[in-house]
Amino acid sequence: MIAAQDERREARASKYMHWAKTSSRARFNLATSGLANVKLQELQVSLADLEISGETGYGYPPLLSLIAERFGVDSACVVTAAGTSFANHLALAALINPGDEILLESPAYEPLLALARYLGAQVKRFQRKFENGWRVSPDEIERNLSPRTRLIVITNFHNPSGVLTDDDTLKEVGELATKRNARVLVDEVYLQMLFAEPPCTAFHLGNQFVVTGSLTKAFGLSGLRCGWILAEPELARRMWLLNDLFAATPVHAGERLSVVALKQLPAIAELAQGRLDKHRQLLNQFLDGRDDLEAIRPQFGSIMFPRVKQGNSERLCDLLREKYETSVVPGEFFEQPAHFRVGMGGDSITFVEGLDRLGQALDELR
Ligand SMILES: Cc1ncc(COP(=O)(O)O)c(C=O)c1O
Repeated sequence: MIAAQDERREARASKYMHWAKTSSRARFNLATSGLANVKLQELQVSLADLEISGETGYGYPPLLSLIAERFGVDSACVVTAAGTSFANHLALAALINPGDEILLESPAYEPLLALARYLGAQVKRFQRKFENGWRVSPDEIERNLSPRTRLIVITNFHNPSGVLTDDDTLKEVGELATKRNARVLVDEVYLQMLFAEPPCTAFHLGNQFVVTGSLTKAFGLSGLRCGWILAEPELARRMWLLNDLFAATPVHAGERLSVVALKQLPAIAELAQGRLDKHRQLLNQFLDGRDDLEAIRPQFGSIMFPRVKQGNSERLCDLLREKYETSVVPGEFFEQPAHFRVGMGGDSITFVEGLDRLGQALDELR
């Protein structure tokens, strides 16, 4: 009990977010996981789109309709939130009570782990193993389920590895959850990088699925904080009511700008996809030439999570930063110190130079 309380107190902050905000920047930044930020001038915006006052209720109807239309769901299933971060917070807060057991993937996006602990969940883990291509294994999940499990939590694509979990696997996970009267929360912030129309989502796989997402990573629109939760209507309603205790009312100009951005999404997506395809090819070529790294190489997305064959990535990350002005995310933030995460969503000059410097640092450590 004391340990659980300590864990909860510790979880009032995220070590990873603190590092990302204070220490991840570098001249050649390969530590970001999304597309480089779009500027307001790149969107076609009128002054009326910046209107700060509007009707306050449970969601801005034009925004709810656009998100609902995008995913082919009823507006009653959509809850808007400030980014996937707050969508996750609201979803978890609505889905679990203190003391409930949840099953979270490992390695995991640390803020999700901290959030679950902060909300008082008993967090159990299931492993996604490098040797198994970081895949979600329904058998591994089943082994770790207990009669007290209320929720299974997965990121898709997986952060940090970038690996996609397919619908068949998710359906199996959904069946396991249903047998236990539990739900499945899928954080789909990276799944938007499939750039499919209509976009893929686990929401259609059954009522037990709750999904979260945002325009942040795939479209470089983090600044809008346009996030959403898709949940069955009764649950969505509970989330709206709970939100009255949290954010209560969103920034109206943000809602309006999100509508503008959603209407311009195809053009933004085309540029983003082109950049990621090109950078992924460059990263694959880079990895082909390195016998000191091994990596699972996803076909999609903006991140990879290579392993330094000779053990710990800490020296590499320090050397990169200090001598080569380049940053990647140390694997310790994902409970995998032999690995490091490379992001490929930045501009091409930064990415190419950053990769070159990564190569030089690795050579120096041989
Ligand atoms: C899995 C995952 N979920 C959520 C977020 C945060 O998304 P947002 O910026 O939309 O809040 C991140 C950011 O790194 C992430 O990796």
